[in-house]
Amino acid sequence: ATDRVVERDVVVIGAGAAGLTAATDLVAAGLTVAVLEARDRIGGRLWTEDVDGATLEVGGQWVSPDQEALLKTLADLGLETYPRYREGDSVYVPRDGEPTRFTGEIFPVAPETAAEIERIIEVLDELVAEVGAEEPWAHPRAAELDQISWSAWLADQTDDVEARDNLALFAAQAMLTKPAHAVSALQAILMAASQGSFSHLVDADFILDRRVVGGLQQVPLLLAERLGGDVHLGAPVRTLEWSETGVVAHADGGSAGPITVRARRAVVAVPPNLYSRIAFEPPLPRRQQVLHQQLSLGLVIKVHAVYDTPFWRDKGLSGTAFSPYQIVHEAYDNTSDVDERDGRGTLVGFVADATADAMFALPAAERRERILDSLAAYLGDEARHPVVYYESDWGSEEWTRGAYAASFGIGGLSRFGADAGTPVGPIRWACSDLAALGFQHVDGAIRVGHAQAAAIVTELTDGGPADGATAD
Ligand code: FDA
Repeated sequence: ATDRVVERDVVVIGAGAAGLTAATDLVAAGLTVAVLEARDRIGGRLWTEDVDGATLEVGGQWVSPDQEALLKTLADLGLETYPRYREGDSVYVPRDGEPTRFTGEIFPVAPETAAEIERIIEVLDELVAEVGAEEPWAHPRAAELDQISWSAWLADQTDDVEARDNLALFAAQAMLTKPAHAVSALQAILMAASQGSFSHLVDADFILDRRVVGGLQQVPLLLAERLGGDVHLGAPVRTLEWSETGVVAHADGGSAGPITVRARRAVVAVPPNLYSRIAFEPPLPRRQQVLHQQLSLGLVIKVHAVYDTPFWRDKGLSGTAFSPYQIVHEAYDNTSDVDERDGRGTLVGFVADATADAMFALPAAERRERILDSLAAYLGDEARHPVVYYESDWGSEEWTRGAYAASFGIGGLSRFGADAGTPVGPIRWACSDLAALGFQHVDGAIRVGHAQAAAIVTELTDGGPADGATAD
């Protein structure tokens, strides 16, 4: 196959939610676009897949009520949502003790522990509101909050270990998917601010509210369909030449052969941990080269277990389960609309950070047994016998390398955060992992996609010289 060379106003690198949102807006503004995607499929961290007859959300799936950008995209694409099943009791497994049923948000812990959890959530809600999601690094206490780990900050608040372990879980294992000692208090505060408040993080009914009929991958799939032939799969960008006036992106092209796109602007819509997979010519400025190394992905195993029936419902259980002391730190009823029609029931559970390392160190059969044991500890022995079992393994995906998303280590957010999204010449960065509201979520990917496209539209149609393909 020969090298294909195409000329466009903008080259978008990455066909995830962020890149495809940007491409859609650019085309709507009358600009021409080519999207280059490394994988043989659309969607990046959104991937709805059939596994042994079950349709599973391998990647992102939930939509919460404050995710206005995502909700607008769903409406524009004519996609419908349905609520997560949540009737009945949740289950908590304490530090030393038996699984306990509860309702509401606060776990069935000793009254002193519950009071400590509630008190610290109030402190956090105030701090989160003050710091905000837009510029956490600009807060007067940013440096101070960024040099202390999330676990150490919690230890300063209370001597109650069970209160600490639970509060740590909401921002660390459950969200940033890094150990609470490896992320800063400021990073945890950003995580909460990006979801509206710390109270929201604690509220599974809010955060994990609804799912999309047909799967959340419908979003990137439908956006790509509308872009038609301008989306190229199996086309990892290897080199991006850039100057003040434009870019040349060189990609592999799979069976169709290599593809080169000359454009006036580039949107690099890949996770920040993968920026260095692209050879920038000339090299990026020192600041970007240094800061890109500070953004790393967390690690979580998303476990899917499909059963002949949703057996937990018959026991009056919702399927919702939490414990910082279990291999699966959180689990939910994940029965899809299709399962519901078939009478099947699906559970989803999450195994995060160092616990995920420990599980991946085991042979697959033993890992499966240990994980199902953990689900059984919450919901009963029936959990040991799924008809379909699947582990989402994003750490093995070359074009992601972890889950859910990228964040800074201790000290990184205050030191580098302000520059993480700064354009370099004709190059702009778009990813959920650089978002303010919706940080590390599809909503954030869409917000950043819109924002980067809007900036390019302004530059190419209002400001700079317009050559032919521009709108006005
Ligand atoms: P994304 O990573 O999706 O896209 C980047 C694209 O760039 C990929 O398609 C990649 O292949 C491509 N690429 C990389 N390098 C390239 C190169 N050199 N050349 C060309 N292409 C390249 N969110 C949420 O809102 N609700 C949820 O329930 C969940 N749950 C969840 C579970 C799991 C297991 C995961 C992994 C993630 C979630 N998330 C989530 C997070 C959510 O999926 C994520 O924030 C967004 O999908 C990210 O979209 P982006 O477009 O920013 O990056």
